[in-house]
Amino acid sequence: MDKIWVAFALVGSMHGARLVSGDFGKTREGTPVRIYTLTNKHGVEATITNYGGRVVSLKVPDKKGAMGDMVLGFDSIDGYLNENPYFGALIGRYANRIGHAQFTLDGVLYKVPKNDGDNSLHGGTRGFDKVVWTAREMKDGRLELSYLSKDGEEGYPGNCTVTVVYHLTDTNELKIDYTASTDKDTVVNLTNHSYFNLKGEGDILGHLLTLNADSFTPVDGGLIPTGELKPVAGTPFDFRKATAIGARIEQNDEQLKLGKGYDHNWVLNKKGAELSMAARVEEPENGRVMEVWTTQPGIQFYTGNFLDGTIKGKGGRVYARRSALCLETQHFPDSPNKPKFPAVVLKPGMEFKSTTIYKFAR
Ligand code: GLA
Repeated sequence: MDKIWVAFALVGSMHGARLVSGDFGKTREGTPVRIYTLTNKHGVEATITNYGGRVVSLKVPDKKGAMGDMVLGFDSIDGYLNENPYFGALIGRYANRIGHAQFTLDGVLYKVPKNDGDNSLHGGTRGFDKVVWTAREMKDGRLELSYLSKDGEEGYPGNCTVTVVYHLTDTNELKIDYTASTDKDTVVNLTNHSYFNLKGEGDILGHLLTLNADSFTPVDGGLIPTGELKPVAGTPFDFRKATAIGARIEQNDEQLKLGKGYDHNWVLNKKGAELSMAARVEEPENGRVMEVWTTQPGIQFYTGNFLDGTIKGKGGRVYARRSALCLETQHFPDSPNKPKFPAVVLKPGMEFKSTTIYKFAR
């Protein structure tokens, strides 16, 4: 490398967060899509596309300093345009499920798409994961994505403006700030659906998981919460102490059978909407650690039970069952129909705000 370029590279790496963008192809309708690379001073790198606001790759070091990509996804836009289970995506307008695909708000019955049996999942047929977001590259290296979900889109009331800011900090955090506002009463639940594997490949059953939750929301056969908050004590849902994900996943437990593994919402131990640690994942062999911090009241822990080896991802790799885990910070599933769950109604003049951080050990 030319001496001048070496000098530039060094200066760049000393100055913390950097953001560069490039072409990522087009949607089927011909809309151009971009890819953004966020880098911090340790060389940690996140790439994000404005198609679905998806985290495409997340490269972090292990205990020996070897970099590895921690998320499932595709090398090009085509993989994302084809059917796939929300790899890396921003999810809305209502993340997770709404029972019978309907809810009543201010006395009006709203019907949303049935795309998961009798229920609505992750915003419907064309949720926030399948739209092109407007991107703004901020001078401090953050990436702002915004999207206007129009009144009636996927059945939801109100023009709802959503802004998501991705920030890769110099303390190895991928920080995601969400805000939303509306011009008519609506319901909102926003999350990110990244599939993590701290080994980079293979299954995640040996990962050690801690969840800061004394209870979870048991579900029915359609994975809709029954409304009960069930203590985790004495069940395979107790992750209050670090436990291998695979240690109890095949136990003869009704809830595990319904989820085909873990696919449930845990009720986080917290006072209010403060930022607190929800989860910690450790890969015992390579020493990688990921903490999940959030202001949200719940977290969906999903063990990739529906991955079935039919999707070919990055480098042609086949994504088998349980080859990744999701930790989706959220309000509880089906809250629009569960008056006792924390409220998800957003009204004009109010601002929805939440923060989630995926933090990697340095
Ligand atoms: C969520 C759901 C799962 C599944 C995945 C996508 O995590 O809870 O049941 O639908 O998304 O496949």
